[in-house]
Parts: sequence; C-alpha cells; structure tokens
Amino acid sequence: MEIVHTPVLLQETLKWLSPENETFSDNAFMVDSTLGEGGHSYAFLNRFENLQIIGLDADQNIQARAKERLACFGDRMKFHLGWFNDFYANYPDNLPKPNLILFDLGISVFHYEKSGRGFSFRYDEALDMRLNDSEGNSASDLVNTMHEEELANLIFNYSEERYSRRIARAIIENRKLAPITNSKVLAQIIYDCVPSGYRHGGIHPATKTFQALRIAVNAELNRLPEALHSAFDVLQIGGKMGVITFHSLEDRIVKNTFRNWSKVCSCPPEQPICTCGGSAKVELLTRKPIGPTEEEVKDNSPSRSAKLRVIRKLR
Ligand SMILES: C[S@@+](CC[C@H](N)C(=O)[O-])C[C@H]1O[C@@H](n2cnc3c(N)ncnc32)[C@H](O)[C@@H]1O
Repeated sequence: MEIVHTPVLLQETLKWLSPENETFSDNAFMVDSTLGEGGHSYAFLNRFENLQIIGLDADQNIQARAKERLACFGDRMKFHLGWFNDFYANYPDNLPKPNLILFDLGISVFHYEKSGRGFSFRYDEALDMRLNDSEGNSASDLVNTMHEEELANLIFNYSEERYSRRIARAIIENRKLAPITNSKVLAQIIYDCVPSGYRHGGIHPATKTFQALRIAVNAELNRLPEALHSAFDVLQIGGKMGVITFHSLEDRIVKNTFRNWSKVCSCPPEQPICTCGGSAKVELLTRKPIGPTEEEVKDNSPSRSAKLRVIRKLR
C-alpha cells in the first residue's frame, strides 16, 4: 500500500508529548484522535516500546489503510471508527485514562488525492466531502439547497473568504441551470465569478470556499470544542494533550480553550474578589504555538500552516 500522507510536525510532536525521562511506565496509553494513515501513531509506537494506542477516525476508508500499516504492532494498536467528540463524550469503561491525547485536525492528503469525494478543486469528482459518507448532507446538498445569504455566511464564517457574497450569488445563478454535483464544475464557477486579480494570487480562488464547505459538511468547528473538553475530562492527571491545527478558526478555539484552562482564577472578570479558590487546570507547555521548520515546509507543503499546542493536565 502506498502511503500518501506525510505526518506534519512529527519530530516536534514526539518531542513535546514525550515524558521527561524519555520512557513511559508500563501500560502507558495514548489516544490518537485523528489516526488518518497512522503516521503519528506509527512513530510513537516505534519510539516507545511500552506504549499502547487507540486510533480514532470517522472515515472507514482511511481507517482500513491505517489498519494495514499498523498491523505490525499487533495488540499494541487498537482502532475505533467514529467521530472524536462522540468517542470522548462516551469514553469506554474498559479503556484506561490516557497519558497522551493527540489531535491532528482536518483531513489527510489521502482525502484530497485518493478518496474521490471532491475535497480538491483540482479533480473531476462527485462533490461530496463527507468523512463518513453514510450520514449527513454532502457538499453538493449544501450548494444546491441553501439560501443565498446562508451560503454566503457559511463561506465567510468558515474561511474568511472576502468574495463570499459574490461566490454565493454565482452558485445560485448556476444551479438554476443545472444542479452542481461536481468539484471541478464548482471550482470553475468560483474562478469565473471573482475579480481577475484574485485569480492570480497565491492560492486558487476556490481554496477557501472548498475549505468552508468541508468544515460545514463535517461540522468540524462544532465537534472541536466539545471534543477538547471531554478529552480533557478523561486525560490522566499529569497527562499531555497536543493539538495540531491548520487554520486560524480552529487554532483560535484551541488557543482560547487552553488559555482558559491555564488561568488560576475562574471567577467572572467583573467579580472584584476571587471566590473560586482556583488553581490552574493545566500547564501550557507551548506558550507560543510550534510551527514547521523551513525544511519541512519545503519537503511537505501542507505543513506550512500547521501549529502545535501542548498542555499538561494539573488537576
Ligand atoms: C490530518 S489527518 C491525520 C493524519 C495522521 N496524523 C497521519 O499522520 O497519518 C486527520 C484525520 O482525522 C480524521 N478526522 C477529522 N475529523 C475527525 C473527527 N471529528 N472525528 C474523527 N476523525 C476525524 C480524518 O478523517 C483524517 O483521517
């Protein structure tokens, strides 16, 4: 099997999630919340011989690839098919509390290049974008049924696309002629409706709209805060949680959540005297997010916007 996804910030993730003395006690347990093709899990299992991992993914096709790749680790690697927020909210009784939790958010190169589900504006594919293609609305359902203003807001809110209104208008006009069911057709509609200067910028003019649709289809920004909180609840005291984000919307959620947990006092700001007797729930191990080296960006361009933030649970 050809692996198509290169794990991002791999050395940094290993470094920041490692125990201080570089060895875990027996039965150390990690949840890889976004297993993908298993690149991070593979490296952790290789580095720490007494570590066991359960890997989650909502997509059964990529999970099958990870199962094949990680079979060499036998019982040390387990798998769960489902959304990470659901998993943590209903954390199985038969699993130990994890010492490590990793989130490597978004989708994998596999999804863009091999899934055939319309994640990339470069390919002539069905406009679907569902990670779990047996539930919910596809991207095609959204672009063919939403009201213009709703669609414009979705595009703007989930990608900060400055031509969101113009793009929504063009989608509505075009779908009157025929339903939009193909990724390349949608990319062309977007390309044709934006000002010509925008067509020759650093990124394809459809990049942000495709990101917004993917986020909406998979409810990415709703699942994240819920997952962070319930993952924190099950994390062992002293355990570490690392999150790799790829755009400012998700990074903001992670940054603010971690910052709130690290505050000593959780009383409302308008209250003059502290009554919570509080102490911080976490130590922020990465005060500033860790980004890729120039070399990594050169070798693996999807890493260019990656940011890793790590906390240790104190109570
Ligand atoms: C960036 S990839 C992970 C790549 C992986 N670390 C590797 O090195 O191969 C993110 C993976 O998480 C999955 N995913 C995204 N959101 C999810 C969610 N809410 N619940 C479960 N899996 C999710 C995607 O299907 C994708 O396979």
